[in-house]
Amino acid sequence: MYLETFGCQMNEYDSELVRSLLKNRGFRLTDNSDQADVVLLNTCAIRENAHNRVYGHLGELKCLKEQRGLVIGVLGCMAQNLKKELMETQPLIDVLVGPDAYRRLPDLLTHALEMRTKGLAVDLSEYETYEHVLPERKEGVNAWIAVMRGCDNFCTFCVVPYTRGRERSRDPHGILEEAGQLAEQGYKQITLLGQNVNSYHAQGWDFARLLSAVADIPGIERVRFTSPHPKDFPQALLEVVAGHPNVCRHIHLPIQSGNDRVLQAMGRCYTRNDYLRLVEMIHQQGSIALTTDIICGFCGETNEEYGDTYHLLKEVRYHSAFIFKYSERKNTIAARKYPDDVPEPVKSERVNQLVQLQKSISREMNRQLIGKQVQVLIEGNAKKSSTQWMGHTESNTTVVWEKNHRPLTPGDMVALTIHDASASTLFG
Ligand code: 5AD
Ligand code: SF4
Repeated sequence: MYLETFGCQMNEYDSELVRSLLKNRGFRLTDNSDQADVVLLNTCAIRENAHNRVYGHLGELKCLKEQRGLVIGVLGCMAQNLKKELMETQPLIDVLVGPDAYRRLPDLLTHALEMRTKGLAVDLSEYETYEHVLPERKEGVNAWIAVMRGCDNFCTFCVVPYTRGRERSRDPHGILEEAGQLAEQGYKQITLLGQNVNSYHAQGWDFARLLSAVADIPGIERVRFTSPHPKDFPQALLEVVAGHPNVCRHIHLPIQSGNDRVLQAMGRCYTRNDYLRLVEMIHQQGSIALTTDIICGFCGETNEEYGDTYHLLKEVRYHSAFIFKYSERKNTIAARKYPDDVPEPVKSERVNQLVQLQKSISREMNRQLIGKQVQVLIEGNAKKSSTQWMGHTESNTTVVWEKNHRPLTPGDMVALTIHDASASTLFG
């Protein structure tokens, strides 16, 4: 079985669950698709280009299917979103399974392999948290734990509440037990995942308490979390970030737009001023790096409204930002309520301008570190060269540096002096 993952960290994590469920049923995993009898794609539906990448991949698999009789499975958000439509328009798909139905995958694949039957499992669940399924993680420094699944916010642009279903939290004791095992196995950095971690609640625990308890587990050098929603960011969570030396002083705080009308149309439940007050509250705790997500060209966004986002970016000075073109998603509130009326070239122009602005801000902020020392967790070889190490700062900025004679290994924390910096990388 060969599995390829598209999309966010939650999907990467789900792929680890799927690998575990299949391995326990006797499937052997391979990193080489040429050796596989089963090829699975764990897909994303968040924007149209995510769909297009999967369609491209399916096109490539067509030939292999004809040559070798492969069983092809499509998993994840796109499977959930398009369901039968995908099965009908892409006859090469044998099995289609949504994010809450992975426990049924081994049976469906077995049937497909033995009897050439097609299988569909796209039921959403109010309870499934894959408790007691131990993810089949890659060895290394980083491990992810999903503390909750689904989303009840229904931001009008977003397909996630439809593809991942209702919000539900995992038992805190199960999470702590798993985090403890990860520490014993030598993982150094744990990232807690949820569509909106502030909504975490289980057995009287909220997210601040959970984060604090995970950080107290001996052996875990760094704890991260993603993402909190700005509408309900509690002071208690900020105190955990500020008060635990191993909780990274970095908060990913998606703003989406800097304009109040657009924010309201997006259903975000905060105003520009609410958000700026929260940023101020965060800054009162000393230096905490902020990053964000932005959507350009949402329904009816005027030049002036876009300008508010541009100026907010200048004002907040994020360490980095993910900037997206609005992409209408089937069945979402925005798709039903508002026309997708900002012309494509205008969307592109706005994205380009914001990317340029953010690049110059990121470069300036990174270059302020030249000559200073930063703490870096070594994660592995640099992408471009095995003679260099790669790691991240607490703010989650990538650092690369030449290996020297010292016997370092991934997982070590080192103090590095920065001698050069670009918009995306520090050189130590
Ligand atoms: N179009 C563009 N970007 C989107 N995002 C979510 N839905 C859409 C969409 N329909 C972005 C948001 C979110 C991030 C994960 O993806 O910025 O925070
Ligand atoms: Fe989508 Fe909003 Fe939920 Fe995030 S909080 S997953 S943007 S609906």
